[in-house]
Amino acid sequence: MAMSKLRPLPTTGAFTGILEALAFFRDPSFAKRRFDRLGNVFETSMLGQPMVFIQGDKAIADLLSQPEAIEGWWPDSVQQLLGSHSLANRNGTAHKARRRVVAQLFSSSALHRYIPGIINLIDALSEELKTAKTPLPLAKKMRRFAFSVIATTVLGLEGNDRDKLFFDFEIWTKALFSIPIALPGSPFAKAIKARKRLLEQLQEILNQPINSKGGLDLLAGGLDEEGIPFSDEDLGEQLLLLLFAGYETTASALSCLMRELLLNPQMETWLREEIDTLDWPPSPEQATTIYEPINAPKLDALVKEVMRFTPPVGGFFRRTKQSVILDDIVVPSNRVVQVALIASNRNGIGDLDIFRPQRHLKNECSLNLMPFGGGERVCLGKSLAELEIRLMVVGLFRKIQLEVIPDQDFTLGQIPSPSPRDGLLVKVHI
Ligand code: HEM
Repeated sequence: MAMSKLRPLPTTGAFTGILEALAFFRDPSFAKRRFDRLGNVFETSMLGQPMVFIQGDKAIADLLSQPEAIEGWWPDSVQQLLGSHSLANRNGTAHKARRRVVAQLFSSSALHRYIPGIINLIDALSEELKTAKTPLPLAKKMRRFAFSVIATTVLGLEGNDRDKLFFDFEIWTKALFSIPIALPGSPFAKAIKARKRLLEQLQEILNQPINSKGGLDLLAGGLDEEGIPFSDEDLGEQLLLLLFAGYETTASALSCLMRELLLNPQMETWLREEIDTLDWPPSPEQATTIYEPINAPKLDALVKEVMRFTPPVGGFFRRTKQSVILDDIVVPSNRVVQVALIASNRNGIGDLDIFRPQRHLKNECSLNLMPFGGGERVCLGKSLAELEIRLMVVGLFRKIQLEVIPDQDFTLGQIPSPSPRDGLLVKVHI
Protein backbone atom coordinates (compact mmCIF):
# COMPACT_ATOMS: atom_id res chain seq x y z
CA MET A 1 0.00 0.00 0.00
CA ALA A 2 1.30 3.47 -0.88
CA MET A 3 2.23 5.19 2.40
CA SER A 4 0.72 8.47 1.18
CA LYS A 5 -2.77 6.91 1.28
CA LEU A 6 -2.51 6.47 5.02
CA ARG A 7 -4.49 8.90 7.15
CA PRO A 8 -4.12 9.93 10.79
CA LEU A 9 -6.67 8.70 13.32
CA PRO A 10 -9.62 11.14 13.61
CA THR A 11 -10.64 11.89 17.18
CA THR A 12 -13.65 13.34 19.01
CA GLY A 13 -11.21 15.28 21.20
CA ALA A 14 -12.79 13.84 24.37
CA PHE A 15 -10.30 13.58 27.23
CA THR A 16 -11.90 12.45 30.49
CA GLY A 17 -14.54 10.53 28.55
CA ILE A 18 -17.22 11.03 31.21
CA LEU A 19 -19.72 12.67 28.87
CA GLU A 20 -18.83 10.17 26.15
CA ALA A 21 -19.55 7.24 28.48
CA LEU A 22 -22.87 8.76 29.53
CA ALA A 23 -23.81 9.35 25.88
CA PHE A 24 -22.75 5.80 24.96
CA PHE A 25 -25.15 4.26 27.48
CA ARG A 26 -28.01 6.65 26.70
CA ASP A 27 -27.87 7.12 22.95
CA PRO A 28 -28.33 4.08 20.67
CA SER A 29 -26.97 6.23 17.80
CA PHE A 30 -23.81 7.15 19.73
CA ALA A 31 -21.41 5.51 17.28
CA LYS A 32 -23.39 6.36 14.15
CA ARG A 33 -23.34 10.09 14.88
CA ARG A 34 -19.59 10.04 15.26
CA PHE A 35 -19.00 7.79 12.22
CA ASP A 36 -21.07 10.22 10.13
CA ARG A 37 -18.85 13.07 11.25
CA LEU A 38 -15.43 11.43 11.46
CA GLY A 39 -15.48 8.43 9.08
CA ASN A 40 -15.28 4.65 9.57
CA VAL A 41 -12.47 4.72 12.14
CA PHE A 42 -12.29 7.25 14.97
CA GLU A 43 -10.96 7.54 18.48
CA THR A 44 -12.67 8.78 21.61
CA SER A 45 -12.29 8.31 25.35
CA MET A 46 -14.57 6.27 27.61
CA LEU A 47 -14.00 7.13 31.28
CA GLY A 48 -10.33 7.76 30.57
CA GLN A 49 -9.93 4.65 28.38
CA PRO A 50 -8.96 5.64 24.83
CA MET A 51 -11.20 3.64 22.49
CA VAL A 52 -11.16 3.35 18.72
CA PHE A 53 -14.53 2.62 17.10
CA ILE A 54 -14.59 0.95 13.69
CA GLN A 55 -17.34 0.08 11.20
CA GLY A 56 -17.47 -1.29 7.66
CA ASP A 57 -16.17 -4.45 5.99
CA LYS A 58 -12.75 -3.03 5.16
CA ALA A 59 -11.82 -1.84 8.64
CA ILE A 60 -13.19 -5.00 10.30
CA ALA A 61 -11.49 -7.36 7.84
CA ASP A 62 -8.21 -5.44 8.27
CA LEU A 63 -8.46 -5.86 12.05
CA LEU A 64 -9.29 -9.56 12.11
CA SER A 65 -6.73 -10.48 9.47
CA GLN A 66 -3.87 -9.48 11.79
CA PRO A 67 -4.28 -11.90 14.72
CA GLU A 68 -0.64 -11.52 15.74
CA ALA A 69 -1.14 -7.77 16.24
CA ILE A 70 -4.29 -7.95 18.39
CA GLU A 71 -5.63 -9.66 21.49
CA GLY A 72 -9.00 -10.06 23.22
CA TRP A 73 -10.28 -7.36 25.56
CA TRP A 74 -13.46 -6.78 27.58
CA PRO A 75 -14.40 -3.78 29.75
CA ASP A 76 -13.29 -3.91 33.39
CA SER A 77 -16.75 -4.82 34.67
CA VAL A 78 -16.91 -7.86 32.35
CA GLN A 79 -13.33 -8.88 33.14
CA GLN A 80 -13.95 -8.79 36.87
CA LEU A 81 -17.30 -10.55 36.76
CA LEU A 82 -16.13 -13.31 34.40
CA GLY A 83 -12.83 -13.79 36.23
CA SER A 84 -9.21 -14.11 35.22
CA HIS A 85 -9.43 -17.81 34.28
CA SER A 86 -12.32 -17.28 31.87
CA LEU A 87 -11.32 -18.00 28.30
CA ALA A 88 -12.89 -14.67 27.34
CA ASN A 89 -10.14 -12.97 29.36
CA ARG A 90 -7.28 -15.18 28.16
CA ASN A 91 -4.98 -14.76 25.21
CA GLY A 92 -2.43 -16.80 23.26
CA THR A 93 -2.03 -20.51 24.03
CA ALA A 94 -3.99 -20.28 27.30
CA HIS A 95 -6.97 -19.04 25.30
CA LYS A 96 -6.60 -21.52 22.45
CA ALA A 97 -6.31 -24.52 24.75
CA ARG A 98 -9.43 -23.61 26.72
CA ARG A 99 -11.34 -22.90 23.53
CA ARG A 100 -10.48 -26.33 22.18
CA VAL A 101 -11.74 -27.97 25.35
CA VAL A 102 -14.95 -25.96 25.66
CA ALA A 103 -15.68 -26.37 21.93
CA GLN A 104 -16.27 -30.07 22.60
CA LEU A 105 -19.61 -29.09 24.12
CA PHE A 106 -20.74 -27.68 20.78
CA SER A 107 -19.63 -30.32 18.28
CA SER A 108 -22.28 -31.70 15.96
CA SER A 109 -22.56 -34.95 17.97
CA ALA A 110 -22.93 -32.95 21.19
CA LEU A 111 -25.73 -30.87 19.61
CA HIS A 112 -27.59 -34.06 18.67
CA ARG A 113 -27.51 -35.07 22.30
CA TYR A 114 -29.20 -31.82 23.37
CA ILE A 115 -32.05 -31.87 20.83
CA PRO A 116 -34.66 -33.94 22.72
CA GLY A 117 -34.20 -31.71 25.79
CA ILE A 118 -34.63 -28.53 23.71
CA ILE A 119 -37.78 -29.89 22.04
CA ASN A 120 -39.25 -30.76 25.46
CA LEU A 121 -38.63 -27.24 26.72
CA ILE A 122 -40.35 -25.73 23.67
CA ASP A 123 -43.36 -28.03 23.94
CA ALA A 124 -43.65 -27.26 27.66
CA LEU A 125 -43.60 -23.54 26.91
CA SER A 126 -46.35 -23.75 24.28
CA GLU A 127 -48.48 -25.72 26.79
CA GLU A 128 -47.85 -23.08 29.45
CA LEU A 129 -48.86 -20.31 27.05
CA LYS A 130 -51.96 -22.24 25.94
CA THR A 131 -53.20 -22.78 29.48
CA ALA A 132 -52.22 -19.40 30.98
CA LYS A 133 -55.14 -17.53 32.51
CA THR A 134 -53.41 -14.13 32.28
CA PRO A 135 -51.03 -12.62 29.68
CA LEU A 136 -47.42 -13.79 30.01
CA PRO A 137 -44.20 -11.82 29.34
CA LEU A 138 -42.71 -13.62 26.37
CA ALA A 139 -39.26 -12.01 26.74
CA LYS A 140 -38.97 -13.45 30.26
CA LYS A 141 -40.01 -16.86 28.94
CA MET A 142 -37.30 -16.63 26.27
CA ARG A 143 -34.69 -15.87 28.93
CA ARG A 144 -35.83 -18.80 31.00
CA PHE A 145 -35.79 -21.07 27.96
CA ALA A 146 -32.31 -20.03 26.81
CA PHE A 147 -30.99 -20.40 30.37
CA SER A 148 -32.55 -23.85 30.71
CA VAL A 149 -31.03 -24.99 27.43
CA ILE A 150 -27.54 -24.23 28.60
CA ALA A 151 -28.04 -25.12 32.29
CA THR A 152 -30.06 -28.31 31.92
CA THR A 153 -29.40 -29.57 28.46
CA VAL A 154 -25.74 -28.70 28.07
CA LEU A 155 -24.53 -28.75 31.66
CA GLY A 156 -27.00 -31.33 32.99
CA LEU A 157 -28.21 -29.33 36.01
CA GLU A 158 -31.46 -30.34 37.68
CA GLY A 159 -34.42 -28.12 38.60
CA ASN A 160 -33.38 -26.91 42.04
CA ASP A 161 -29.76 -26.24 41.17
CA ARG A 162 -30.86 -24.51 38.01
CA ASP A 163 -33.38 -22.22 39.71
CA LYS A 164 -30.84 -21.10 42.33
CA LEU A 165 -28.35 -20.33 39.60
CA PHE A 166 -30.89 -18.43 37.52
CA PHE A 167 -31.75 -16.13 40.42
CA ASP A 168 -28.12 -15.12 40.98
CA PHE A 169 -27.46 -14.87 37.27
CA GLU A 170 -30.12 -12.25 36.82
CA ILE A 171 -28.36 -10.10 39.48
CA TRP A 172 -24.93 -10.78 37.99
CA THR A 173 -25.98 -9.97 34.41
CA LYS A 174 -27.43 -6.58 35.30
CA ALA A 175 -24.00 -5.25 36.28
CA LEU A 176 -22.01 -6.75 33.45
CA PHE A 177 -21.71 -3.48 31.58
CA SER A 178 -21.75 -1.10 34.55
CA ILE A 179 -19.21 1.10 36.30
CA PRO A 180 -17.04 -1.43 38.13
CA ILE A 181 -16.95 0.26 41.53
CA ALA A 182 -18.36 -1.89 44.31
CA LEU A 183 -20.03 0.87 46.36
CA PRO A 184 -22.24 -0.79 48.99
CA GLY A 185 -25.68 -1.54 47.52
CA SER A 186 -24.63 -0.71 43.94
CA PRO A 187 -25.50 -3.16 41.12
CA PHE A 188 -21.80 -3.98 40.78
CA ALA A 189 -21.40 -4.79 44.50
CA LYS A 190 -24.46 -7.04 44.32
CA ALA A 191 -23.09 -8.71 41.21
CA ILE A 192 -19.72 -9.43 42.87
CA LYS A 193 -21.57 -11.16 45.72
CA ALA A 194 -23.76 -13.05 43.24
CA ARG A 195 -20.60 -14.15 41.38
CA LYS A 196 -19.19 -15.64 44.58
CA ARG A 197 -22.39 -17.58 45.23
CA LEU A 198 -22.56 -18.70 41.59
CA LEU A 199 -19.02 -20.08 41.66
CA GLU A 200 -19.73 -21.88 44.95
CA GLN A 201 -22.84 -23.44 43.46
CA LEU A 202 -21.00 -24.44 40.30
CA GLN A 203 -18.25 -25.95 42.41
CA GLU A 204 -20.81 -28.01 44.38
CA ILE A 205 -22.27 -29.26 41.13
CA LEU A 206 -18.84 -30.15 39.81
CA ASN A 207 -18.11 -32.08 43.01
CA GLN A 208 -21.10 -34.33 42.39
CA PRO A 209 -20.59 -37.33 40.11
CA ILE A 210 -21.10 -36.08 36.55
CA ASN A 211 -24.43 -37.36 35.22
CA SER A 212 -24.82 -38.40 31.65
CA LYS A 213 -27.63 -35.95 30.94
CA GLY A 214 -25.64 -32.93 29.89
CA GLY A 215 -22.37 -32.65 28.03
CA LEU A 216 -20.00 -32.19 30.99
CA ASP A 217 -18.53 -35.65 30.51
CA LEU A 218 -17.29 -34.40 27.14
CA LEU A 219 -14.91 -32.06 28.96
CA ALA A 220 -13.27 -34.72 31.12
CA GLY A 221 -9.53 -34.68 30.85
CA GLY A 222 -9.55 -32.02 28.13
CA LEU A 223 -7.04 -29.49 29.33
CA ASP A 224 -4.75 -32.08 30.84
CA GLU A 225 -4.26 -33.36 27.32
CA GLU A 226 -3.11 -29.88 26.39
CA GLY A 227 -0.59 -30.02 29.24
CA ILE A 228 -2.42 -27.31 31.19
CA PRO A 229 -3.80 -28.30 34.57
CA PHE A 230 -7.56 -27.68 34.59
CA SER A 231 -8.20 -26.61 38.18
CA ASP A 232 -11.71 -26.61 39.65
CA GLU A 233 -11.59 -22.83 39.78
CA ASP A 234 -10.69 -22.70 36.11
CA LEU A 235 -13.49 -25.05 35.08
CA GLY A 236 -15.98 -23.12 37.26
CA GLU A 237 -15.16 -19.88 35.45
CA GLN A 238 -15.56 -21.48 32.02
CA LEU A 239 -19.02 -22.72 33.04
CA LEU A 240 -19.90 -19.28 34.35
CA LEU A 241 -18.96 -17.83 30.95
CA LEU A 242 -21.02 -20.42 29.10
CA LEU A 243 -24.08 -19.87 31.25
CA PHE A 244 -23.90 -16.16 30.61
CA ALA A 245 -22.93 -16.23 26.93
CA GLY A 246 -25.47 -18.97 26.35
CA TYR A 247 -28.59 -17.22 27.50
CA GLU A 248 -28.49 -13.45 27.45
CA THR A 249 -27.66 -13.27 23.74
CA THR A 250 -29.94 -16.07 22.55
CA ALA A 251 -32.84 -14.76 24.64
CA SER A 252 -32.36 -11.31 23.12
CA ALA A 253 -32.40 -12.68 19.56
CA LEU A 254 -35.55 -14.68 20.28
CA SER A 255 -37.37 -11.81 22.00
CA CYS A 256 -36.54 -9.34 19.22
CA LEU A 257 -37.59 -11.86 16.59
CA MET A 258 -40.93 -12.54 18.31
CA ARG A 259 -41.49 -8.81 18.73
CA GLU A 260 -41.05 -8.16 15.00
CA LEU A 261 -43.40 -10.99 14.05
CA LEU A 262 -46.09 -10.10 16.55
CA LEU A 263 -46.04 -6.41 15.70
CA ASN A 264 -46.16 -7.10 11.94
CA PRO A 265 -49.04 -9.50 11.16
CA GLN A 266 -48.16 -9.48 7.44
CA MET A 267 -44.70 -10.71 8.24
CA GLU A 268 -46.13 -13.43 10.45
CA THR A 269 -48.42 -14.58 7.62
CA TRP A 270 -45.46 -14.56 5.23
CA LEU A 271 -43.44 -16.76 7.62
CA ARG A 272 -46.35 -19.07 8.49
CA GLU A 273 -46.70 -20.03 4.82
CA GLU A 274 -43.32 -21.71 5.20
CA ILE A 275 -43.59 -22.90 8.79
CA ASP A 276 -46.85 -24.71 8.07
CA THR A 277 -44.98 -26.93 5.61
CA LEU A 278 -42.38 -27.99 8.20
CA ASP A 279 -42.70 -31.00 10.51
CA TRP A 280 -42.81 -30.60 14.29
CA PRO A 281 -41.24 -32.15 16.25
CA PRO A 282 -38.33 -33.08 14.03
CA SER A 283 -36.65 -36.41 14.59
CA PRO A 284 -33.40 -35.97 16.56
CA GLU A 285 -31.43 -37.13 13.49
CA GLN A 286 -32.99 -34.45 11.31
CA ALA A 287 -33.26 -31.59 13.78
CA THR A 288 -29.93 -29.93 12.99
CA THR A 289 -30.59 -29.87 9.26
CA ILE A 290 -34.34 -29.86 8.62
CA TYR A 291 -34.81 -26.13 9.30
CA GLU A 292 -31.63 -25.04 7.52
CA PRO A 293 -31.79 -22.35 4.80
CA ILE A 294 -32.33 -24.82 1.98
CA ASN A 295 -35.58 -26.10 3.56
CA ALA A 296 -36.60 -22.95 5.43
CA PRO A 297 -35.26 -19.92 3.54
CA LYS A 298 -37.74 -17.46 5.05
CA LEU A 299 -36.87 -18.52 8.58
CA ASP A 300 -33.19 -18.10 7.74
CA ALA A 301 -33.81 -14.64 6.29
CA LEU A 302 -35.78 -13.64 9.38
CA VAL A 303 -33.03 -14.76 11.76
CA LYS A 304 -30.37 -12.96 9.69
CA GLU A 305 -32.42 -9.77 9.72
CA VAL A 306 -32.89 -9.89 13.51
CA MET A 307 -29.14 -10.32 13.93
CA ARG A 308 -28.53 -7.40 11.55
CA PHE A 309 -31.15 -5.03 12.91
CA THR A 310 -30.82 -5.72 16.64
CA PRO A 311 -27.52 -7.58 17.11
CA PRO A 312 -27.57 -9.25 20.56
CA VAL A 313 -23.94 -8.21 21.03
CA GLY A 314 -23.74 -4.61 19.86
CA GLY A 315 -19.98 -4.60 19.64
CA PHE A 316 -16.92 -6.69 20.41
CA PHE A 317 -13.42 -5.62 21.29
CA ARG A 318 -9.76 -6.16 20.60
CA ARG A 319 -6.62 -4.48 21.93
CA THR A 320 -3.77 -3.63 19.55
CA LYS A 321 -0.40 -5.07 20.59
CA GLN A 322 1.31 -3.12 17.84
CA SER A 323 0.22 -0.42 15.45
CA VAL A 324 -2.23 -1.59 12.78
CA ILE A 325 -3.69 -0.05 9.64
CA LEU A 326 -7.49 -0.17 9.51
CA ASP A 327 -9.19 1.15 6.39
CA ASP A 328 -6.04 3.19 5.60
CA ILE A 329 -5.94 4.73 9.07
CA VAL A 330 -3.05 4.14 11.42
CA VAL A 331 -4.18 2.92 14.84
CA PRO A 332 -1.32 2.96 17.36
CA SER A 333 -0.31 0.12 19.64
CA ASN A 334 -2.16 -0.42 22.95
CA ARG A 335 -5.51 0.90 21.78
CA VAL A 336 -8.83 -0.76 22.53
CA VAL A 337 -10.77 -1.19 19.30
CA GLN A 338 -14.53 -1.66 19.38
CA VAL A 339 -16.10 -3.28 16.33
CA ALA A 340 -19.39 -1.35 16.31
CA LEU A 341 -21.85 -3.90 14.94
CA ILE A 342 -25.02 -1.85 15.45
CA ALA A 343 -23.74 1.05 13.35
CA SER A 344 -21.94 -1.22 10.86
CA ASN A 345 -25.10 -3.20 10.16
CA ARG A 346 -26.98 -0.10 9.05
CA ASN A 347 -24.15 1.56 7.18
CA GLY A 348 -24.62 1.39 3.43
CA ILE A 349 -26.94 2.08 0.56
CA GLY A 350 -30.67 1.34 0.69
CA ASP A 351 -33.32 0.89 3.36
CA LEU A 352 -30.99 -0.45 6.04
CA ASP A 353 -32.92 1.38 8.76
CA ILE A 354 -35.95 -0.79 8.06
CA PHE A 355 -36.55 -4.34 9.27
CA ARG A 356 -37.05 -6.30 6.04
CA PRO A 357 -36.04 -10.01 6.07
CA GLN A 358 -36.77 -10.35 2.34
CA ARG A 359 -33.52 -8.51 1.57
CA HIS A 360 -31.61 -11.69 2.45
CA LEU A 361 -33.69 -13.85 0.09
CA LYS A 362 -32.93 -11.70 -2.90
CA ASN A 363 -29.25 -11.24 -2.08
CA GLU A 364 -29.89 -7.53 -1.77
CA CYS A 365 -27.82 -7.29 1.38
CA SER A 366 -24.16 -6.75 0.60
CA LEU A 367 -23.16 -6.29 4.24
CA ASN A 368 -20.85 -8.86 5.74
CA LEU A 369 -22.83 -9.57 8.90
CA MET A 370 -20.83 -10.71 11.94
CA PRO A 371 -23.29 -11.12 14.82
CA PHE A 372 -21.09 -13.87 16.26
CA GLY A 373 -17.83 -11.95 15.95
CA GLY A 374 -14.96 -13.29 13.93
CA GLY A 375 -11.40 -14.54 13.71
CA GLU A 376 -9.82 -16.56 16.51
CA ARG A 377 -12.46 -15.57 19.06
CA VAL A 378 -15.58 -16.16 17.02
CA CYS A 379 -18.52 -17.26 19.19
CA LEU A 380 -18.25 -20.87 20.36
CA GLY A 381 -22.00 -21.31 20.73
CA LYS A 382 -23.06 -20.14 17.24
CA SER A 383 -24.42 -23.51 16.08
CA LEU A 384 -26.26 -24.11 19.34
CA ALA A 385 -27.77 -20.61 19.29
CA GLU A 386 -28.93 -20.96 15.69
CA LEU A 387 -30.39 -24.37 16.41
CA GLU A 388 -32.28 -23.15 19.50
CA ILE A 389 -33.70 -20.16 17.64
CA ARG A 390 -34.91 -22.17 14.65
CA LEU A 391 -36.43 -24.89 16.83
CA MET A 392 -38.21 -22.35 19.02
CA VAL A 393 -39.75 -20.42 16.11
CA VAL A 394 -40.99 -23.55 14.33
CA GLY A 395 -42.10 -25.31 17.53
CA LEU A 396 -44.04 -22.37 18.90
CA PHE A 397 -45.61 -21.14 15.67
CA ARG A 398 -46.60 -24.64 14.54
CA LYS A 399 -48.57 -25.14 17.74
CA ILE A 400 -50.06 -21.79 18.73
CA GLN A 401 -50.89 -18.34 17.52
CA LEU A 402 -49.97 -15.49 19.82
CA GLU A 403 -51.22 -11.95 20.03
CA VAL A 404 -49.60 -9.06 21.87
CA ILE A 405 -51.37 -7.10 24.57
CA PRO A 406 -51.67 -3.48 23.41
CA ASP A 407 -50.71 -0.54 25.65
CA GLN A 408 -47.27 -1.72 26.60
CA ASP A 409 -43.86 -0.25 25.86
CA PHE A 410 -42.56 -2.10 22.80
CA THR A 411 -39.30 -0.14 22.63
CA LEU A 412 -36.09 -2.03 23.30
CA GLY A 413 -33.86 -1.63 26.33
CA GLN A 414 -30.27 -1.99 25.04
CA ILE A 415 -28.02 -3.08 27.91
CA PRO A 416 -26.70 -5.74 28.10
CA SER A 417 -28.67 -6.93 25.03
CA PRO A 418 -31.76 -5.59 23.24
CA SER A 419 -35.01 -6.67 24.86
CA PRO A 420 -38.60 -5.27 24.87
CA ARG A 421 -38.91 -2.98 27.91
CA ASP A 422 -42.30 -4.24 29.10
CA GLY A 423 -41.39 -7.86 28.49
CA LEU A 424 -43.62 -8.40 25.42
CA LEU A 425 -46.86 -9.43 27.12
CA VAL A 426 -48.78 -11.95 25.02
CA LYS A 427 -51.78 -14.24 25.14
CA VAL A 428 -52.75 -17.13 22.94
CA HIS A 429 -55.07 -16.18 20.11
CA ILE A 430 -58.27 -18.22 20.37
C1 HEM B 1 -27.63 -15.31 19.30
C2 HEM B 1 -26.79 -15.77 20.17
C3 HEM B 1 -25.34 -15.36 20.30
C4 HEM B 1 -24.67 -14.29 19.80
C5 HEM B 1 -25.22 -13.17 18.92
C6 HEM B 1 -23.29 -14.39 20.25
C7 HEM B 1 -22.31 -13.47 19.93
C8 HEM B 1 -21.00 -13.55 20.37
C9 HEM B 1 -19.98 -12.56 20.08
C10 HEM B 1 -20.16 -11.30 19.24
C11 HEM B 1 -18.84 -12.97 20.68
C12 HEM B 1 -17.48 -12.25 20.65
C13 HEM B 1 -16.71 -12.77 19.46
C14 HEM B 1 -15.44 -12.02 19.18
O1 HEM B 1 -14.85 -11.42 20.08
O2 HEM B 1 -15.01 -12.08 18.00
C15 HEM B 1 -19.12 -14.21 21.36
C16 HEM B 1 -18.20 -14.93 22.08
C17 HEM B 1 -18.50 -16.10 22.74
N1 HEM B 1 -19.71 -16.77 22.75
FE1 HEM B 1 -21.42 -16.21 21.81
N2 HEM B 1 -23.16 -15.51 21.01
C18 HEM B 1 -24.38 -16.15 21.08
C19 HEM B 1 -24.66 -17.33 21.74
C20 HEM B 1 -23.75 -18.08 22.42
C21 HEM B 1 -24.03 -19.37 23.05
C22 HEM B 1 -25.36 -20.10 23.00
C23 HEM B 1 -22.87 -19.76 23.65
C24 HEM B 1 -22.57 -20.99 24.45
C25 HEM B 1 -23.29 -21.51 25.32
C26 HEM B 1 -21.85 -18.75 23.39
C27 HEM B 1 -20.55 -18.81 23.84
C28 HEM B 1 -19.58 -17.87 23.54
C29 HEM B 1 -18.22 -17.95 24.06
C30 HEM B 1 -17.66 -19.02 24.97
C31 HEM B 1 -17.53 -16.83 23.56
C32 HEM B 1 -16.07 -16.43 23.82
C33 HEM B 1 -15.18 -16.91 22.69
C34 HEM B 1 -13.72 -16.54 22.86
O3 HEM B 1 -13.41 -15.53 23.50
O4 HEM B 1 -12.89 -17.27 22.32
N3 HEM B 1 -22.43 -17.75 22.64
N4 HEM B 1 -20.45 -14.55 21.15
